[in-house]
Amino acid sequence: MINGIRGMNDILPSESGAWRYLEAQLRAVADAYGYVEIRTPILERTELFLRGIGEATDIVEKEMYTFNDRNGDSLTMRPEGTAGTVRAAIEHGLLHNQEQRLWYMGPVFRYERPQKGRYRQFHQFGVEAFGLEGPDIDAEVILMTARLWQNLGLQDHVTLHLNSLGANEARQKYREQLVDYFRAHYQALDEDSRRRLETNPLRILDSKVPEMQEVIAGAPSILDALDTESARHFAELQSILNDAGIEFVVNPRLVRGLDYYNRTVFEWMTDSLGAQGTVCGGGRYDGLVHMLGGKSVPAVGFGLGMERVVLLLEALSLVDEHYLTPVDAYLIVAGAEPEAHKLVIAEKIRNLCPELRLRLHCGGGGFKRQMKRADKLGARVALIVGEDEWRSGCVSVKFMDGTRPQQTFAYEALPEILKSIPCG
Ligand code: HAM
Repeated sequence: MINGIRGMNDILPSESGAWRYLEAQLRAVADAYGYVEIRTPILERTELFLRGIGEATDIVEKEMYTFNDRNGDSLTMRPEGTAGTVRAAIEHGLLHNQEQRLWYMGPVFRYERPQKGRYRQFHQFGVEAFGLEGPDIDAEVILMTARLWQNLGLQDHVTLHLNSLGANEARQKYREQLVDYFRAHYQALDEDSRRRLETNPLRILDSKVPEMQEVIAGAPSILDALDTESARHFAELQSILNDAGIEFVVNPRLVRGLDYYNRTVFEWMTDSLGAQGTVCGGGRYDGLVHMLGGKSVPAVGFGLGMERVVLLLEALSLVDEHYLTPVDAYLIVAGAEPEAHKLVIAEKIRNLCPELRLRLHCGGGGFKRQMKRADKLGARVALIVGEDEWRSGCVSVKFMDGTRPQQTFAYEALPEILKSIPCG
Protein backbone atom coordinates (compact mmCIF):
# COMPACT_ATOMS: atom_id res chain seq x y z
CA MET A 1 0.00 0.00 0.00
CA ILE A 2 1.38 3.39 -0.99
CA ASN A 3 -0.05 6.17 1.16
CA GLY A 4 -0.63 9.81 0.27
CA ILE A 5 1.78 12.51 1.41
CA ARG A 6 1.51 13.88 4.96
CA GLY A 7 -0.34 17.17 5.08
CA MET A 8 -1.84 16.68 1.63
CA ASN A 9 -5.50 15.78 1.74
CA ASP A 10 -7.78 13.80 -0.49
CA ILE A 11 -11.11 15.55 -0.79
CA LEU A 12 -13.45 12.59 -0.61
CA PRO A 13 -16.94 12.30 -2.11
CA SER A 14 -18.43 12.97 1.31
CA GLU A 15 -16.52 16.27 1.48
CA SER A 16 -16.58 17.51 -2.11
CA GLY A 17 -20.11 18.89 -1.76
CA ALA A 18 -18.99 21.39 0.88
CA TRP A 19 -16.10 22.39 -1.39
CA ARG A 20 -18.34 22.89 -4.38
CA TYR A 21 -20.68 24.99 -2.26
CA LEU A 22 -17.84 27.23 -1.10
CA GLU A 23 -16.41 27.48 -4.62
CA ALA A 24 -19.80 28.51 -6.00
CA GLN A 25 -20.18 31.18 -3.29
CA LEU A 26 -16.67 32.51 -3.92
CA ARG A 27 -17.27 32.78 -7.67
CA ALA A 28 -20.61 34.50 -7.04
CA VAL A 29 -19.00 37.12 -4.77
CA ALA A 30 -16.15 37.76 -7.22
CA ASP A 31 -18.72 38.19 -10.00
CA ALA A 32 -20.82 40.53 -7.87
CA TYR A 33 -17.85 42.94 -7.65
CA GLY A 34 -16.88 42.64 -11.32
CA TYR A 35 -13.58 40.82 -10.72
CA VAL A 36 -12.13 38.60 -13.45
CA GLU A 37 -10.53 35.19 -13.03
CA ILE A 38 -6.86 34.57 -13.76
CA ARG A 39 -5.23 31.13 -13.73
CA THR A 40 -1.48 30.79 -13.42
CA PRO A 41 0.73 27.68 -13.26
CA ILE A 42 1.46 25.93 -9.98
CA LEU A 43 5.19 25.96 -10.78
CA GLU A 44 7.16 29.18 -10.99
CA ARG A 45 10.85 30.00 -10.99
CA THR A 46 12.16 29.93 -7.42
CA GLU A 47 13.60 33.43 -7.87
CA LEU A 48 10.06 34.87 -8.12
CA PHE A 49 9.25 33.90 -4.53
CA LEU A 50 12.69 34.77 -3.14
CA ARG A 51 12.30 38.30 -4.47
CA GLY A 52 8.55 38.60 -4.04
CA ILE A 53 7.83 37.14 -0.61
CA GLY A 54 11.18 38.05 0.97
CA GLU A 55 14.22 35.96 1.92
CA ALA A 56 13.77 36.43 5.67
CA THR A 57 10.22 35.04 5.84
CA ASP A 58 9.20 31.63 7.20
CA ILE A 59 7.83 30.70 3.78
CA VAL A 60 11.10 31.26 1.93
CA GLU A 61 13.40 30.14 4.73
CA LYS A 62 11.79 26.80 5.44
CA GLU A 63 8.46 26.10 3.77
CA MET A 64 8.92 26.00 0.01
CA TYR A 65 8.77 22.89 -2.14
CA THR A 66 11.75 23.62 -4.37
CA PHE A 67 13.53 21.33 -6.82
CA ASN A 68 15.64 21.39 -9.95
CA ASP A 69 13.90 20.24 -13.09
CA ARG A 70 15.64 18.04 -15.67
CA ASN A 71 17.14 21.12 -17.21
CA GLY A 72 18.71 22.18 -13.90
CA ASP A 73 16.34 25.17 -13.42
CA SER A 74 15.25 25.78 -9.85
CA LEU A 75 11.45 25.66 -9.67
CA THR A 76 9.08 26.08 -6.74
CA MET A 77 5.51 24.94 -6.19
CA ARG A 78 3.70 28.19 -5.47
CA PRO A 79 3.40 28.85 -1.71
CA GLU A 80 0.84 31.62 -2.37
CA GLY A 81 -0.93 33.25 -5.30
CA THR A 82 0.15 36.89 -5.32
CA ALA A 83 3.66 36.60 -6.77
CA GLY A 84 2.54 34.45 -9.72
CA THR A 85 -0.38 36.77 -10.44
CA VAL A 86 1.95 39.79 -10.47
CA ARG A 87 4.42 37.91 -12.69
CA ALA A 88 1.69 37.04 -15.19
CA ALA A 89 0.22 40.55 -15.14
CA ILE A 90 3.62 42.13 -15.91
CA GLU A 91 4.55 39.50 -18.50
CA HIS A 92 1.31 39.95 -20.46
CA GLY A 93 1.13 43.72 -20.22
CA LEU A 94 -2.03 43.75 -18.10
CA LEU A 95 -0.79 46.67 -16.05
CA HIS A 96 -0.06 49.20 -18.81
CA ASN A 97 -2.08 52.28 -17.86
CA GLN A 98 -5.02 50.24 -16.73
CA GLU A 99 -6.49 48.87 -13.57
CA GLN A 100 -7.11 45.16 -13.11
CA ARG A 101 -9.33 43.47 -10.57
CA LEU A 102 -8.52 39.78 -10.56
CA TRP A 103 -9.32 36.65 -8.60
CA TYR A 104 -7.97 33.10 -8.54
CA MET A 105 -8.55 29.84 -6.75
CA GLY A 106 -6.32 26.80 -6.48
CA PRO A 107 -3.81 24.71 -4.56
CA VAL A 108 -0.74 26.16 -2.86
CA PHE A 109 2.08 24.38 -1.05
CA ARG A 110 3.96 25.04 2.17
CA TYR A 111 6.11 22.64 4.13
CA GLU A 112 4.60 23.39 7.55
CA ARG A 113 3.91 21.09 10.47
CA PRO A 114 0.46 19.67 9.70
CA GLN A 115 -2.33 20.05 12.23
CA LYS A 116 -6.04 20.86 12.10
CA GLY A 117 -6.45 23.73 9.65
CA ARG A 118 -2.78 23.67 8.59
CA TYR A 119 -1.71 21.53 5.68
CA ARG A 120 1.13 21.19 3.20
CA GLN A 121 -1.15 21.36 0.21
CA PHE A 122 -4.02 23.72 0.81
CA HIS A 123 -6.25 25.91 -1.33
CA GLN A 124 -6.46 29.64 -1.56
CA PHE A 125 -9.08 31.89 -3.07
CA GLY A 126 -7.41 35.22 -3.70
CA VAL A 127 -8.20 38.65 -5.04
CA GLU A 128 -5.69 41.18 -6.39
CA ALA A 129 -6.61 44.72 -7.51
CA PHE A 130 -3.95 46.65 -9.46
CA GLY A 131 -3.55 50.29 -10.41
CA LEU A 132 -5.58 51.94 -7.64
CA GLU A 133 -4.01 53.68 -4.68
CA GLY A 134 -6.92 55.13 -2.73
CA PRO A 135 -8.37 53.54 0.40
CA ASP A 136 -11.63 52.95 -1.52
CA ILE A 137 -10.21 49.83 -3.14
CA ASP A 138 -8.78 48.57 0.18
CA ALA A 139 -12.29 48.97 1.57
CA GLU A 140 -13.83 47.20 -1.42
CA VAL A 141 -11.77 44.03 -1.04
CA ILE A 142 -12.59 43.99 2.68
CA LEU A 143 -16.30 44.50 1.96
CA MET A 144 -16.11 41.63 -0.48
CA THR A 145 -14.94 39.31 2.28
CA ALA A 146 -17.56 40.68 4.68
CA ARG A 147 -20.26 39.91 2.11
CA LEU A 148 -18.89 36.42 1.69
CA TRP A 149 -19.15 35.74 5.45
CA GLN A 150 -22.67 37.10 5.38
CA ASN A 151 -23.67 34.90 2.44
CA LEU A 152 -22.15 31.85 4.12
CA GLY A 153 -23.73 32.59 7.50
CA LEU A 154 -20.30 33.02 9.13
CA GLN A 155 -20.61 36.72 9.99
CA ASP A 156 -20.87 36.10 13.74
CA HIS A 157 -17.88 33.76 13.81
CA VAL A 158 -15.16 36.01 12.34
CA THR A 159 -13.51 39.23 13.46
CA LEU A 160 -11.66 41.72 11.28
CA HIS A 161 -8.22 42.85 12.48
CA LEU A 162 -6.79 45.90 10.78
CA ASN A 163 -3.43 47.66 10.82
CA SER A 164 -1.27 49.94 8.72
CA LEU A 165 2.41 49.30 8.11
CA GLY A 166 2.93 52.75 6.59
CA ALA A 167 5.33 53.69 3.82
CA ASN A 168 8.71 51.97 3.49
CA GLU A 169 10.80 54.82 4.90
CA ALA A 170 8.58 55.26 7.95
CA ARG A 171 8.58 51.51 8.52
CA GLN A 172 12.37 51.47 8.29
CA LYS A 173 12.50 54.05 11.08
CA TYR A 174 10.00 52.09 13.13
CA ARG A 175 12.06 48.96 12.58
CA GLU A 176 15.07 50.71 14.13
CA GLN A 177 12.97 51.82 17.12
CA LEU A 178 11.75 48.28 17.53
CA VAL A 179 15.24 46.79 17.35
CA ASP A 180 16.40 49.25 20.03
CA TYR A 181 13.46 48.30 22.22
CA PHE A 182 13.93 44.55 21.88
CA ARG A 183 17.71 44.86 22.32
CA ALA A 184 16.99 46.57 25.63
CA HIS A 185 14.79 43.56 26.53
CA TYR A 186 17.04 40.91 25.05
CA GLN A 187 16.75 38.62 28.09
CA ALA A 188 12.99 38.34 27.59
CA LEU A 189 13.30 37.12 23.99
CA ASP A 190 13.14 33.48 23.01
CA GLU A 191 15.63 32.01 20.56
CA ASP A 192 13.43 32.50 17.53
CA SER A 193 12.86 36.17 18.32
CA ARG A 194 16.58 36.75 18.92
CA ARG A 195 17.20 35.44 15.43
CA ARG A 196 14.42 37.60 14.03
CA LEU A 197 15.88 40.65 15.70
CA GLU A 198 18.60 40.44 13.05
CA THR A 199 16.52 39.34 10.06
CA ASN A 200 12.90 40.50 10.41
CA PRO A 201 12.23 42.28 13.72
CA LEU A 202 8.60 43.19 12.93
CA ARG A 203 7.76 39.49 12.95
CA ILE A 204 8.61 39.35 16.67
CA LEU A 205 5.33 41.21 17.24
CA ASP A 206 3.56 38.19 15.78
CA SER A 207 5.09 35.68 18.24
CA LYS A 208 2.54 33.47 19.97
CA VAL A 209 4.94 32.39 22.76
CA PRO A 210 3.11 33.14 26.07
CA GLU A 211 6.23 34.30 27.94
CA MET A 212 6.88 36.91 25.27
CA GLN A 213 3.49 38.60 25.38
CA GLU A 214 4.41 41.09 28.10
CA VAL A 215 7.49 42.39 26.34
CA ILE A 216 5.57 42.56 23.05
CA ALA A 217 2.77 44.53 24.71
CA GLY A 218 5.32 47.13 25.82
CA ALA A 219 6.86 47.61 22.38
CA PRO A 220 6.35 50.88 20.52
CA SER A 221 3.28 50.90 18.25
CA ILE A 222 3.73 51.12 14.51
CA LEU A 223 0.71 53.41 14.35
CA ASP A 224 2.66 56.09 16.22
CA ALA A 225 5.35 55.90 13.55
CA LEU A 226 3.15 56.22 10.46
CA ASP A 227 3.99 58.82 7.81
CA THR A 228 1.30 61.48 7.29
CA GLU A 229 0.04 60.14 3.97
CA SER A 230 -0.32 56.59 5.31
CA ALA A 231 -2.02 57.84 8.46
CA ARG A 232 -4.57 59.66 6.30
CA HIS A 233 -5.05 56.62 4.06
CA PHE A 234 -5.65 54.47 7.14
CA ALA A 235 -8.09 56.95 8.67
CA GLU A 236 -10.08 57.13 5.44
CA LEU A 237 -10.23 53.37 5.19
CA GLN A 238 -11.60 53.16 8.72
CA SER A 239 -14.13 55.84 7.98
CA ILE A 240 -15.43 53.96 4.89
CA LEU A 241 -15.66 50.72 6.87
CA ASN A 242 -17.54 52.46 9.67
CA ASP A 243 -19.88 54.00 7.13
CA ALA A 244 -20.52 50.54 5.64
CA GLY A 245 -21.24 49.08 9.08
CA ILE A 246 -18.20 46.79 9.12
CA GLU A 247 -16.87 46.16 12.62
CA PHE A 248 -13.12 45.88 13.05
CA VAL A 249 -10.36 45.89 15.65
CA VAL A 250 -7.31 48.06 15.07
CA ASN A 251 -4.43 45.75 15.95
CA PRO A 252 -1.01 47.43 15.80
CA ARG A 253 0.69 44.05 16.31
CA LEU A 254 -0.66 42.66 13.05
CA VAL A 255 2.33 42.43 10.71
CA ARG A 256 1.60 39.49 8.31
CA GLY A 257 4.11 36.84 7.28
CA LEU A 258 5.12 38.11 3.85
CA ASP A 259 7.46 41.03 3.20
CA TYR A 260 5.68 42.78 0.36
CA TYR A 261 3.10 44.73 2.35
CA ASN A 262 2.89 48.46 3.01
CA ARG A 263 0.06 50.52 4.48
CA THR A 264 -3.15 48.48 4.97
CA VAL A 265 -2.90 44.92 6.31
CA PHE A 266 -5.83 42.88 7.59
CA GLU A 267 -6.82 39.45 8.79
CA TRP A 268 -10.15 37.81 9.48
CA MET A 269 -9.86 35.57 12.53
CA THR A 270 -12.09 33.03 14.18
CA ASP A 271 -12.11 31.41 17.61
CA SER A 272 -13.88 28.34 16.28
CA LEU A 273 -10.90 26.54 14.72
CA GLY A 274 -8.34 26.24 17.50
CA ALA A 275 -4.80 27.41 16.83
CA GLN A 276 -5.21 28.06 13.09
CA GLY A 277 -7.66 30.90 13.47
CA THR A 278 -6.82 33.12 10.50
CA VAL A 279 -9.24 32.39 7.69
CA CYS A 280 -8.22 35.23 5.40
CA GLY A 281 -5.37 37.71 5.23
CA GLY A 282 -4.24 40.44 2.92
CA GLY A 283 -3.26 44.03 2.42
CA ARG A 284 -1.63 46.57 0.19
CA TYR A 285 1.62 45.88 -1.66
CA ASP A 286 2.45 48.97 -3.70
CA GLY A 287 6.11 48.02 -4.19
CA LEU A 288 5.79 44.45 -5.46
CA VAL A 289 5.07 45.05 -9.15
CA HIS A 290 8.15 47.24 -9.45
CA MET A 291 10.25 44.80 -7.43
CA LEU A 292 9.31 42.03 -9.86
CA GLY A 293 10.33 44.05 -12.91
CA GLY A 294 7.22 46.06 -13.79
CA LYS A 295 6.43 49.76 -13.54
CA SER A 296 5.44 51.07 -10.16
CA VAL A 297 1.78 50.03 -9.81
CA PRO A 298 -0.17 50.17 -6.54
CA ALA A 299 -1.97 46.97 -5.54
CA VAL A 300 -4.07 45.42 -2.80
CA GLY A 301 -5.52 41.97 -2.25
CA PHE A 302 -6.11 39.05 0.04
CA GLY A 303 -5.83 35.28 0.23
CA LEU A 304 -8.43 33.10 1.91
CA GLY A 305 -7.69 29.62 3.25
CA MET A 306 -10.41 27.44 1.80
CA GLU A 307 -9.77 24.41 4.07
CA ARG A 308 -10.35 26.61 7.11
CA VAL A 309 -13.61 27.97 5.74
CA VAL A 310 -14.80 24.47 4.82
CA LEU A 311 -13.97 23.33 8.38
CA LEU A 312 -16.05 26.19 9.77
CA LEU A 313 -18.98 25.50 7.45
CA GLU A 314 -18.98 21.83 8.37
CA ALA A 315 -18.61 22.43 12.11
CA LEU A 316 -21.53 24.86 12.06
CA SER A 317 -23.64 22.77 9.63
CA LEU A 318 -23.87 25.67 7.20
CA VAL A 319 -23.37 23.82 3.94
CA ASP A 320 -26.36 24.27 1.64
CA GLU A 321 -28.33 21.03 1.57
CA HIS A 322 -28.36 20.88 -2.21
CA TYR A 323 -24.60 20.33 -2.14
CA LEU A 324 -24.76 17.59 0.47
CA THR A 325 -26.78 15.23 -1.71
CA PRO A 326 -25.29 14.48 -5.11
CA VAL A 327 -28.52 13.23 -6.67
CA ASP A 328 -32.05 14.65 -6.98
CA ALA A 329 -33.69 11.70 -8.65
CA TYR A 330 -33.05 7.97 -8.98
CA LEU A 331 -34.39 6.07 -11.98
CA ILE A 332 -35.71 2.63 -11.17
CA VAL A 333 -36.78 0.14 -13.83
CA ALA A 334 -38.59 -3.15 -13.47
CA GLY A 335 -39.31 -5.72 -16.17
CA ALA A 336 -37.52 -6.85 -19.31
CA GLU A 337 -38.56 -4.04 -21.69
CA PRO A 338 -37.86 -1.10 -19.36
CA GLU A 339 -34.56 -2.74 -18.37
CA ALA A 340 -33.56 -3.08 -22.02
CA HIS A 341 -34.36 0.59 -22.76
CA LYS A 342 -33.42 2.25 -19.49
CA LEU A 343 -30.54 4.33 -20.88
CA VAL A 344 -32.80 5.77 -23.53
CA ILE A 345 -35.45 6.48 -20.89
CA ALA A 346 -32.88 8.25 -18.73
CA GLU A 347 -31.67 10.36 -21.66
CA LYS A 348 -35.26 11.32 -22.45
CA ILE A 349 -35.74 12.54 -18.87
CA ARG A 350 -32.45 14.45 -19.00
CA ASN A 351 -33.56 16.13 -22.23
CA LEU A 352 -36.76 17.26 -20.52
CA CYS A 353 -35.11 18.27 -17.21
CA PRO A 354 -31.58 19.40 -18.04
CA GLU A 355 -30.88 20.64 -14.51
CA LEU A 356 -32.06 17.49 -12.76
CA ARG A 357 -29.31 15.39 -11.20
CA LEU A 358 -30.53 11.97 -12.20
CA ARG A 359 -28.80 8.71 -11.40
CA LEU A 360 -29.82 5.60 -13.28
CA HIS A 361 -29.93 2.31 -11.45
CA CYS A 362 -27.52 -0.22 -12.94
CA GLY A 363 -26.52 -3.73 -11.93
CA GLY A 364 -29.93 -5.36 -11.73
CA GLY A 365 -31.82 -6.34 -8.61
CA GLY A 366 -35.43 -6.10 -7.60
CA PHE A 367 -37.59 -3.06 -6.92
CA LYS A 368 -36.88 -3.09 -3.19
CA ARG A 369 -33.16 -3.08 -3.65
CA GLN A 370 -33.40 -0.23 -6.12
CA MET A 371 -35.54 1.81 -3.72
CA LYS A 372 -32.97 1.21 -0.99
CA ARG A 373 -30.27 2.66 -3.24
CA ALA A 374 -32.39 5.72 -3.96
CA ASP A 375 -32.90 6.20 -0.24
CA LYS A 376 -29.24 5.75 0.63
CA LEU A 377 -28.18 8.31 -1.93
CA GLY A 378 -30.56 10.86 -0.47
CA ALA A 379 -32.52 11.24 -3.72
CA ARG A 380 -35.59 13.43 -3.30
CA VAL A 381 -37.61 11.38 -5.78
CA ALA A 382 -37.60 7.93 -7.31
CA LEU A 383 -38.70 7.80 -10.94
CA ILE A 384 -40.13 4.38 -11.69
CA VAL A 385 -40.70 2.71 -15.03
CA GLY A 386 -42.22 -0.78 -14.73
CA GLU A 387 -44.01 -2.82 -17.39
CA ASP A 388 -47.25 -0.80 -16.96
CA GLU A 389 -45.54 2.57 -17.26
CA TRP A 390 -43.57 1.30 -20.24
CA ARG A 391 -46.72 0.17 -22.07
CA SER A 392 -48.54 3.45 -21.41
CA GLY A 393 -45.50 5.67 -22.08
CA CYS A 394 -45.58 7.09 -18.54
CA VAL A 395 -43.37 7.36 -15.50
CA SER A 396 -44.29 7.04 -11.82
CA VAL A 397 -42.97 9.59 -9.37
CA LYS A 398 -42.42 8.72 -5.74
CA PHE A 399 -41.41 11.53 -3.39
CA MET A 400 -39.04 9.85 -0.96
CA ASP A 401 -40.17 11.91 2.05
CA GLY A 402 -43.67 10.45 1.64
CA THR A 403 -45.34 13.87 1.56
CA ARG A 404 -47.23 13.03 -1.63
CA PRO A 405 -48.73 9.77 -2.88
CA GLN A 406 -46.93 8.03 -5.70
CA GLN A 407 -48.45 9.13 -9.00
CA THR A 408 -48.03 8.36 -12.67
CA PHE A 409 -47.41 11.10 -15.25
CA ALA A 410 -46.62 11.60 -18.89
CA TYR A 411 -42.91 12.37 -19.38
CA GLU A 412 -43.76 15.89 -20.54
CA ALA A 413 -45.25 16.64 -17.12
CA LEU A 414 -41.96 15.92 -15.31
CA PRO A 415 -40.45 19.45 -15.47
CA GLU A 416 -43.56 20.83 -13.76
CA ILE A 417 -43.83 17.99 -11.21
CA LEU A 418 -40.13 18.16 -10.30
CA LYS A 419 -39.76 21.92 -10.18
CA SER A 420 -40.12 21.95 -6.41
CA ILE A 421 -36.91 19.99 -5.92
CA PRO A 422 -33.61 21.83 -6.29
CA CYS A 423 -32.68 22.21 -9.95
CA GLY A 424 -35.73 20.11 -10.89
P1 HAM B 1 -1.24 34.22 3.84
O1 HAM B 1 -1.71 34.91 5.08
O2 HAM B 1 0.11 33.62 3.86
O3 HAM B 1 -1.33 35.31 2.69
O4 HAM B 1 -2.28 33.10 3.43
C1 HAM B 1 -3.64 33.41 3.24
C2 HAM B 1 -4.51 32.41 4.00
O5 HAM B 1 -4.19 31.08 3.62
C3 HAM B 1 -4.33 32.42 5.49
O6 HAM B 1 -5.06 33.45 6.08
C4 HAM B 1 -4.88 31.06 5.89
O7 HAM B 1 -6.28 31.09 5.97
C5 HAM B 1 -4.49 30.20 4.69
N1 HAM B 1 -3.32 29.36 5.02
C6 HAM B 1 -2.04 29.75 5.15
N2 HAM B 1 -1.24 28.70 5.42
C7 HAM B 1 -2.04 27.61 5.47
C8 HAM B 1 -1.82 26.20 5.68
N3 HAM B 1 -0.60 25.72 5.88
N4 HAM B 1 -2.89 25.38 5.66
C9 HAM B 1 -4.14 25.86 5.43
N5 HAM B 1 -4.40 27.16 5.21
C10 HAM B 1 -3.37 28.03 5.22
C11 HAM B 1 -1.01 35.07 1.39
O8 HAM B 1 -0.76 34.00 0.93
C12 HAM B 1 -1.07 36.31 0.51
N6 HAM B 1 -0.74 35.93 -0.86
C13 HAM B 1 -2.44 36.97 0.60
C14 HAM B 1 -2.53 38.21 -0.23
C15 HAM B 1 -3.04 38.31 -1.47
N7 HAM B 1 -2.08 39.40 0.11
C16 HAM B 1 -2.31 40.25 -0.87
N8 HAM B 1 -2.87 39.60 -1.85
